[in-house]
Amino acid sequence: MSMPPPLSALQPGYRRVATRKVLARAGGDSFEAWTGGREAASMSTNAGADALPFQRWHRFKEAFSPELIEQAVQESPVPVRRLADPFGGSGTSALTCQFLGVKPVTIEVNPFLADLITAKLATYHVPELLSALTRVARHATASRSRGAAMIRSLPATFVEPGVKDRWLFDLPVLIQIARLREAIEAESNPAVVRLFRVLLGGLMVGFSNASVSGKGRRYRVNWQERRVDPTCVLPTFADAVAAAIVEIGACSTRPMREGTVLHGDSRQLLADVGPVDQITCSPPYPNSFDYTDVYNLELWMLGYLTSFDDNRELRQSTLTSHVQISRDFTPAPRCRRLDKTMKALRQAQDELWDPRIPAMVGAYFADLLGLMRTCSTLLPPKGQAWFVVGDSQYAGIHVQVAKVLADLAPSAGLKVERMKPFRSMRVSPQQSGRHQLSEDLVVFSRP
Ligand SMILES: C[S@@+](CC[C@H](N)C(=O)[O-])C[C@H]1O[C@@H](n2cnc3c(N)ncnc32)[C@H](O)[C@@H]1O
Repeated sequence: MSMPPPLSALQPGYRRVATRKVLARAGGDSFEAWTGGREAASMSTNAGADALPFQRWHRFKEAFSPELIEQAVQESPVPVRRLADPFGGSGTSALTCQFLGVKPVTIEVNPFLADLITAKLATYHVPELLSALTRVARHATASRSRGAAMIRSLPATFVEPGVKDRWLFDLPVLIQIARLREAIEAESNPAVVRLFRVLLGGLMVGFSNASVSGKGRRYRVNWQERRVDPTCVLPTFADAVAAAIVEIGACSTRPMREGTVLHGDSRQLLADVGPVDQITCSPPYPNSFDYTDVYNLELWMLGYLTSFDDNRELRQSTLTSHVQISRDFTPAPRCRRLDKTMKALRQAQDELWDPRIPAMVGAYFADLLGLMRTCSTLLPPKGQAWFVVGDSQYAGIHVQVAKVLADLAPSAGLKVERMKPFRSMRVSPQQSGRHQLSEDLVVFSRP
């Protein structure tokens, strides 16, 4: 492997880029080598998985564990050669499939996440990546850009002087990010551009004055006094890319190198994926949490969103699991348990923090029933669909997602093989309660 000049020669602070020895230590190509044979803390959650190669490119709290996909594939009554996940997220299903020798197809509506998954599944030429990193670093270092075009495309709250003395990115930091973005976009290989862009996305929250948690985004304590050092932007990016190149090199002969990522709304796209042997997914929970908000920094700063219309359009395409935008709510499908829940929610309308919650909950199940019907047309007889779902609660009314889906399964042409509670989730403060909500695995099969 021919090596370009070390990056440390370009700017102090760069970590030495991958050597064969590091590549050999970093991981491996089998599922066991990738996960290190770890004991997953919980099958349903990402606990610990963001330390794994590829998964650490971007922290994704809501991911399920790779071990869940391995178990699904191993326990399938039919051999699994092709597996679909209609809610791709960080790409756990798709990436795990590649380590298991299964061909993945995944759908993700969020363009940044769709690119993140595509970048994880792609095949690269390591020396080309190293040369590209050197070029990007040189280009960004030599740039005199003041980020004017990028600043024009961002909401005013994003960059100093911001709005009402608050801004997400200090101007000197934003200028460094803009220079990096311009240098990345100047690369000629679209796969390299995508990879570098998503790796920059993985650092975006750290470059901002905000922190992101399960409760959303907020300004860091004392952010005005503890400014981000703009000279760290380029070295931090170079370190992240160098670390990713090590992982890519170490896992370059995993048993499956193919994979399809469809960017868009799975309610429309799932029917087009063709026959699959298994489906695994974790749809957003009906807890009013909009993933578009969580990835707002990446979406705007990387140019995936350039107007509020873009933002609205993306929100319209997400599963009906939140009330952040006005939309047409599909009427709730009918089953006794859901009828009862819908009636209770309508009666409690005055106590709900948003009057659209009952309609949202009804439409949530209509969306999922539609997807389950499509699943039954894609699977072979006995083929399974593994759904990880979470309950919700509004004004003390419990929305039992797994149980309602199980009740609806026959009308989708599916049979419930098993239901297993994974863990309890605390009710969000917004839902004013301390009760525990269940997160469950539901395994459906095509009779
Ligand atoms: C709970 S996360 C999935 C996490 C995934 N299982 C993992 O391990 O990374 C749900 C994902 O569904 C995506 N999503 C929401 N609505 C969608 C839609 N209509 N079509 C496709 N993806 C959608 C969200 O953007 C989010 O990434």
